[in-house]
Order: sequence, then C-alpha cells, then structure tokens
Amino acid sequence: TDTPAPRISVIGTGYLGATHAAAMAEMGFEVIGVDTDPAKVAALAIGEVPFFEPGLPELLRKHVSTGRLRFTTDLAEATALSDVHFICVGTPQQRGSNAANTSYVEAATVEVVRNLTHDGLIVGKSTVPVGTAGRLRVAVQSNLPSGIHAELIWNPEFLREGKAVADTLTPDRIVIGGTSAASEAIMREVYAVPIATGTPVIVCDLPTAELVKVSANAFLATKISFINAIAEVCEAAGANVTVLADALGHDIRIGRQFLNAGLGFGGGCLPKDIRALMHRSGELGAHSAVSLMQQVDEINMAQRQRVIDLTLEALGGSVLNRRIGILGAAFKPDTDDVRDSPALNVAAALHLRGAQVIVFDPEAGTTAKKIFPTLGYADSTDEAVTNADVVLVLTEWPEFVSADPVRLLGLAQGASVIDARNCIDRAAWEQAGWTVRSLGRSAQP
Ligand code: UGA
Repeated sequence: TDTPAPRISVIGTGYLGATHAAAMAEMGFEVIGVDTDPAKVAALAIGEVPFFEPGLPELLRKHVSTGRLRFTTDLAEATALSDVHFICVGTPQQRGSNAANTSYVEAATVEVVRNLTHDGLIVGKSTVPVGTAGRLRVAVQSNLPSGIHAELIWNPEFLREGKAVADTLTPDRIVIGGTSAASEAIMREVYAVPIATGTPVIVCDLPTAELVKVSANAFLATKISFINAIAEVCEAAGANVTVLADALGHDIRIGRQFLNAGLGFGGGCLPKDIRALMHRSGELGAHSAVSLMQQVDEINMAQRQRVIDLTLEALGGSVLNRRIGILGAAFKPDTDDVRDSPALNVAAALHLRGAQVIVFDPEAGTTAKKIFPTLGYADSTDEAVTNADVVLVLTEWPEFVSADPVRLLGLAQGASVIDARNCIDRAAWEQAGWTVRSLGRSAQP
C-alpha cells in the first residue's frame, strides 16, 4: 500500500510499555514512549532499562541508537508525532479494597485525547475490570478537540516478566476488541510481523477482550492453587507432588506448566487480577467467580504461612534470634520484581518474629532493600548460608538449584533446608547430610 505506516506512541513505560515500545520498533515502526517519570524517561532515552528484564536492554539500545525509538515526558509531543496510541499504564490494587485502581488508565486516555492534533486510534493494553473500556469510550468522545476523530479499542497483553521480549515479539495470540473495519485493518498492520508467522488473531467485542486477559490470569492462578491443594494431600498421604504433577502434565488437556507446587504466586499481576475479578464479579452478581477466586487467593496465601510453620518446626518452635538464610526475594526467577513477592513476604514475617534474616537474591536485592530496609542482605548464596540455623529456598533461581549442598553444609550452622519451590535435588541434599522439608512431600524421604 502507499499509505504511510502508522506511527506509534506508548503511554506508560513500565515492564509492559517499555517492552511494547521496543518490540514495535523491532517490528519496523517509528515509536515514541511517554512517561511522567523524568528519571525513567532519561534512562530509557539513552538505552538503559530501569529494571531487570533479559534481552530488553539490547533491543532498546538497538532502536534508540537509530532514533526509531524515542522517549519523552511530553505527551503533546508524542501525540503530535503518532497515530496509534497504546495505553500501557498500571492498574494496581486499591488500598483497602480488592478492586483495581483504573484512575491512571482513565487519566492517561483522557490526556491523550485532549492532546490529539489529528485523528487517532487509542488502544488499551492495561489489564482492566470488564466494563472499563466501555466507560472510557464515553470519556474519549466527550474530550475530543473539535474536528478530531478518535476510536478506542482494547488489545490486552499477555507477556510474562522475565520472558517479556519473546512474549511480545512472538505472542501466543493477539486479541483485539471493539474494532471497526478501519481500526481492525490498522491493528492487522501493526501486528503484521507476528500475524505473518501464524499468530492467531481473535477479533471480539470490548468486554470479551477485557475479560480474556483477566480470565487467563485467573486460570493460571487457579492451576497453581489447585496443585498446592493437592500438595497438602500428598504431604499428608506420603505422596510426591512433583512426580504427580509430571504424570498429570502428560495429559495434554491438563499440561505440565503452572503445576509447580510450593510457595505460590505473587508479582504485580496474578494476585491483584484475581482480587479485581472477585470484586468486579461481585458487582455484576456473578457469585461463582467470587467464591472460586476467594478460594484460589486463600490457598495461595496459606502457602506462605505453611513455610513459616515449617521454619518454626525446624527450629524447635521459635525463630527468636535464630539466623535464617533466605535464598530468593523476587516473586519468581529472572526478574528483580518484588511486588507481592511470597519470598520477601515470608522473610519479613520471620524478621517480625525476631529472627535474624539474611536474604540473598541474584537480581532483586536492591529492589527488596527499598521496601524492607531492616532485613539483613547478603551478596552471595554462600554469605546467606554462612552460620545459618536453617536455610529457606524461596525463589527457584538456577544458581540456587545448582548450588553444591556439600559446600553449603560446611558453611551453615544447622543442617535444615526448606525447599519452598520443590526445586533442589532432594536426594543429593539429603546425601550431603541436610534434612530437607518441602511442600507436597512428606518429611521422610
Ligand atoms: C503473569 C502471566 O503469566 C502473564 O501471561 C501476564 O501477561 C502477566 O501476569 C500480566 O498480567 O501482566 P507474571 O506476573 O510475569 O505473568 O508471572 P508468572 O510467570 O505468571 O508467575 C506468577 C507467579 O506464579 C510467580 O510468583 C510464580 O512463582 C508462581 N508460579 C508459577 C507458581 O507458584 N507455580 C507455577 O507452577 C508457576
């Protein structure tokens, strides 16, 4: 075609926005990223990613250096230079409520609309309670400058932290909701690269698009809480939940992924998304979803208490002044994100009970320190384990999984390890002389 390619703006440059902006540049578009945080913009503008995400710094630098990808704090500059505006701001859990806070999405959308100098397409990517986009549509129309036309559609994002670049460049599916023929054509152009390699496109209405995203995360969370419920049965019955999960996973209707029993889910998405779904379903009178999500959340939070109980047990009933070596602070490996991290949550709870907690995480130490400055931090696995009365493996980083149990036993004071992610080679650790406890396997080997 001879129509010029759409130019793209990305509003919000957190995990989602920064990755999306770089991926759009990689797909060949001119991209401008906007954020209200000048420090973040300054870093991104010179190709520095203000968080840990494998592969993203390389991609960012590649396109910042050619000028195809730029960053600004000036929304008016961005809207003037682009045609398709992706809204990628956060929807955190509200204080004192299960509901998601959609005020950043609302403000960003209205601001984009007010700054439009030519017709545009506004694409919501943030995870929102179903019905939000419909409300935003009204706000879009009532804030348009005169003579300007804009459409709002929804295009949820399914990227995982730690695998954000690959998930964005080669997504499992592309969902676009609420499009007209014209906006669908633009979206097919924007995603021409993944569509050409066979990525399925689902075109649907606005509420379906919003709800696909929320249900995907709710299903993943349910899978984790399901296996954690079964893990409790395994432990009581002397069965092995890891072997069980492997066996279940061979049934392709079930699948092996997200059946790792242990400390449960955390992060900026799954916990707040199931709570937001709980809240929104209640508003809509859909009570089955409310009670299901309540159970998923309760089972998940109980896993943290379970690890605290096992720690107390290993130390004979009290953690007071005992030294606890904690391996892991991030909510999962390959990220420095500690939002709602089960690992850090357990560390903080043990600290509150008077334990001397020493945390080591290969990437998340700095972010953890900002939130819990009073915990002890180590610079290596060895340092965290040295003189520990008990060792807790709370995030399954490869370097913890492959650590040498013989060397670690020589450093520790005690010989107890709690494997809260079922990730270490239990037989090897036991052979080295450790007493290993894990969630979903009985105390006796
Ligand atoms: C999640 C979804 O997986 C993404 O598809 C989605 O786009 C994203 O939320 C989002 O809404 O933005 P993420 O938060 O990066 O991605 O983390 P996950 O990889 O889903 O892991 C979530 C938690 O579940 C972690 O704490 C992990 O340790 C835990 N988990 C995962 C388990 O406890 N067991 C498992 O078997 C798998």
